[in-house]
Amino acid sequence: MSDGRKRIAVALDASERSRILELARLVGPEIGVLKVGLEAFCAHGPELVREVAALAPVFLDLKLHDIPNTVGAAAAAAARTGAAILNVHAGGGAEMMRAAGERAREAAAAASLPVPRVIAVTVLTSLDAAALSAVGLAGTPREAALRLALLARQAGLDGVVCSPEEIATIRSACGPEFLLVVPGIRPAGSAAGDQKRIATPGAAARAGADLLVIGRPITGAPDPAAAARAIAAEIGAA
Ligand code: C5P
Repeated sequence: MSDGRKRIAVALDASERSRILELARLVGPEIGVLKVGLEAFCAHGPELVREVAALAPVFLDLKLHDIPNTVGAAAAAAARTGAAILNVHAGGGAEMMRAAGERAREAAAAASLPVPRVIAVTVLTSLDAAALSAVGLAGTPREAALRLALLARQAGLDGVVCSPEEIATIRSACGPEFLLVVPGIRPAGSAAGDQKRIATPGAAARAGADLLVIGRPITGAPDPAAAARAIAAEIGAA
């Protein structure tokens, strides 16, 4: 599989089981990771994650955020689904992030599963500067994302989810091994929808994103496999 393909995570955002699995089968061979998010997980639970994981590595995007004990236990349960990547909200604090990382790793080892990568969401790509200050978070989105990324690294996590605009800043502060997973990807000419801080696949790849999370531009295309191939070619040429 080409490098461009491996760097795509397709967001399987749907609630009908048949549609989720149809999308997974259509795009699974074209990309590196399939992302199961809140909508699909709330509708169908861990059993669906196991089915999707049989088609491609899964990023289980539940954005856990609660007290450390609760998040640690949830991360352990999430790791037992066989997901390759799990995430929590960095805003839950260092102790919560550390619990998630440790408990997920222990649970995977105890079940003889590959150790998942545990990453933290910094600032949602749907929040702009005004929305961020309305919730009382200090600084620009870039400053807040950098602060949270450094905290995630200190807490022993493997990387973060950040917007295209923060890739370069976080990469230079957190180093080449820190996994940068980037949503808010829009091919030139496609609708932004609710995403505010966006970039094209080529620009995000050039800036240093490891994994590009792409939903509607692929899942909403008339031919999702062809859309994934076109984006992979753009990433490969970046
Ligand atoms: O359809 P679209 O390409 O906007 O999908 C982006 C996906 O990335 C969604 O599943 C969304 O939940 C997820 N995501 C995001 N922003 C984050 C973290 C995850 O958009 N900060």
